[in-house]
Amino acid sequence: MKILALESSCDETAITLLNTSKGSLFLEKNQIYSQVDIHKKYGGVVPEVAARKHVETIIPLLEENLGKNKLKNIDYITVTSGPGLITSLLLGVTAAKTLSYINNIPLIPINHIEGHIYSNWLSHKKLVKDSNKYFPSLVLIISGGHTELVLMKDHGKYELLGQTLDDAAGEAFDKVAKMMNLGYPGGPIVSKLAEKGNNEKYNFPRPMMKENNFDFSFSGLKTAVLYTLQKKYKITKKDVNDICSSFQQAVVDVLTKKTIKAAEKYNINSIMIVGGVAANIAIKESIKKESSKLKIQLFVPELKYTGDNSAMIAVAAYYNLINKKGKILKGKKMFNLKPNSNWQLTKN
Ligand code: KG4
Ligand code: ZN
Repeated sequence: MKILALESSCDETAITLLNTSKGSLFLEKNQIYSQVDIHKKYGGVVPEVAARKHVETIIPLLEENLGKNKLKNIDYITVTSGPGLITSLLLGVTAAKTLSYINNIPLIPINHIEGHIYSNWLSHKKLVKDSNKYFPSLVLIISGGHTELVLMKDHGKYELLGQTLDDAAGEAFDKVAKMMNLGYPGGPIVSKLAEKGNNEKYNFPRPMMKENNFDFSFSGLKTAVLYTLQKKYKITKKDVNDICSSFQQAVVDVLTKKTIKAAEKYNINSIMIVGGVAANIAIKESIKKESSKLKIQLFVPELKYTGDNSAMIAVAAYYNLINKKGKILKGKKMFNLKPNSNWQLTKN
């Protein structure tokens, strides 16, 4: 089976051609055009600029990926239909609908968060071989827009255990970086500087860590960093490193504590960490240490699949198809598909 996937939910335009012959997942083509250098100068993603760039990029990327007439061998087209920036989503969805309709190829809308979850199937053959062995899986989704703990009971079966009440984990990293003019995106920069700092220098709050639920909150932590900075007359390089390190440690402690508490409560067979922030070594190591004490298998995608990409969307579509989940749109029906910037995975 061949699946063409399009992803344009934020500031990456991505196209993948997935071939699933003989039960394996083979990426015949996998391209990502990142707009990060464009948005850097604004200190964050500017939706209007992102959408315009998707317009410029999507057709040349498709031509490069497929050449002319290569759509002939494609069985399905899939596209990220939400959540994300509405103007960015619209570009991918419109392109996918047009290609599907003209070429009479069924269209599969995929939730971006579900894509992040399936990024693990790209990196771990044992999940592809026997997914059932690892269900139910406790999934920690940490990205620029989301922080959620989800119980994945089976393919396409999700229960929301808790989520952030304000900022997402990645957003907190980005905002802390912005406060110190460190650059964008903040996560990789803060985590790099954190390596050189003292993680105990500042005793930042661990919001909601001890509360008896699986929700998160990062805005108070962000404000605590701001107040610390405001109190200083001069901020040295050492201060920056120590602040990054102490901030990161607070995030690590909260994410680890809540994930492990959920792992102990629910009868699970694996833990997964997914999303852009899953690139963070301190978070991965901390959860790895605690999950191995419980003898629970931990899955984290390879670095190249933690951030936004379309390979994960293609794989999610494949598992939706073979497990008869989600929607398959054909003919004129696909024109009813509209991107949903707030599409919640656990409410479909
Ligand atoms: O999943 P993603 O690529 O996009 C969304 O769907 O939001 O996540 C992007 C987020 C950004 O906030 C970025 O700063 C964060 O992931 N990130 C990191 C690291 N690498 C990327 N956060 C912490 N540590 C990292 N090493
Ligand atoms: Zn994402």
